[in-house]
Amino acid sequence: MAVLRIPEHNRTLTDRRAIADYLAPMGIEYRRWEPAHTVSAEASSEEILAAYRAEIDRLKERGGYVTADVIDVRPDTPGLDAMLARFNKEHWHDEDEIRFIIAGRGVFHIRPAEGPVVAIETEAGDLIRVPRDTRHWFDLCAERRIRAIRLFQDPAGWTPHYTRSGVDRDFQPLCLGPAYLPRAGAPTRS
Ligand SMILES: [Fe+2]
Repeated sequence: MAVLRIPEHNRTLTDRRAIADYLAPMGIEYRRWEPAHTVSAEASSEEILAAYRAEIDRLKERGGYVTADVIDVRPDTPGLDAMLARFNKEHWHDEDEIRFIIAGRGVFHIRPAEGPVVAIETEAGDLIRVPRDTRHWFDLCAERRIRAIRLFQDPAGWTPHYTRSGVDRDFQPLCLGPAYLPRAGAPTRS
């Protein structure tokens, strides 16, 4: 289950509906997907795409996405640091960025047109759709592992455009993990 943080307000959301409701006005979609049949996180790309075929087809229809693939990043992936350096600086795309997490974790920071920067930590079962032209950046968590389904309208449109604002340097790519849950009644959390 995702964790949403609003660092400027020292606020954390862990409820699925609260996270989706907070993100919706920014045009960001967050939801959970359940596979049509059980599939291992280590299954082949084909098996994973087959298990989520119904959900993928629905999204394709709705968003005009034409292709789906599975990206697999591990700590020993060659060129990992260079790959991560492309995405951990504030940027936007001419395409929606859609990720459904199969394994591992990562943090999307979003800088909306209005309001404070939001950090969304995603893990297995989380779907996030960041619309085109939305300023964002992405970091892996400490285990440097992520496996995710990606959808594209045109893979060529997914090239990052950097803002060079430097805003990303003001935020720690902090991962709280599934063990982190706010205590009931904690004053700064909801
Ligand atoms: Fe991106």
